[in-house]
Amino acid sequence: MINRSNTFLGLVLFSGSCMAACEFNIEVGDTLQFDTKEIVAEKSCESVTITINHTGKLPAAAMGHNWVLSKKEDFQQLAIDSSAAGLDNNYVPPDDARVLANTRLVGGGESDSISFETASLTEDSYTFFCSFPGHWAVMKGTFKLN
Ligand code: CO
Repeated sequence: MINRSNTFLGLVLFSGSCMAACEFNIEVGDTLQFDTKEIVAEKSCESVTITINHTGKLPAAAMGHNWVLSKKEDFQQLAIDSSAAGLDNNYVPPDDARVLANTRLVGGGESDSISFETASLTEDSYTFFCSFPGHWAVMKGTFKLN
């Protein structure tokens, strides 16, 4: 029993140290809020993995959240266009070059992960947001490589 606990703790600590560099877990719930406003990945990350965990109870159709990455200058119009893309498209316009990365839309109890290459991310900072209609005005933050 003690050995098993120690092993589990070791795994948690190990994954924790990886997260600091290239992997990030983001929690969302039944409110319009990400649990972080800024994600800073290490410049040495060839790719970054974002996992979104919805710890709430409401279904995706009512209180869905996703994680969408875009250039700052594209953010607002992309967010507006995303609403029109509809629930079936996770509120993300298909084949839209402004979408640099996105998870699918998750509801309560669901999670999703996305991994994306960093080689083409040359700007100082980017915007991440939830593209569910009406959420993007407050559910947004800054992503950067540092
Ligand atoms: Co949302």
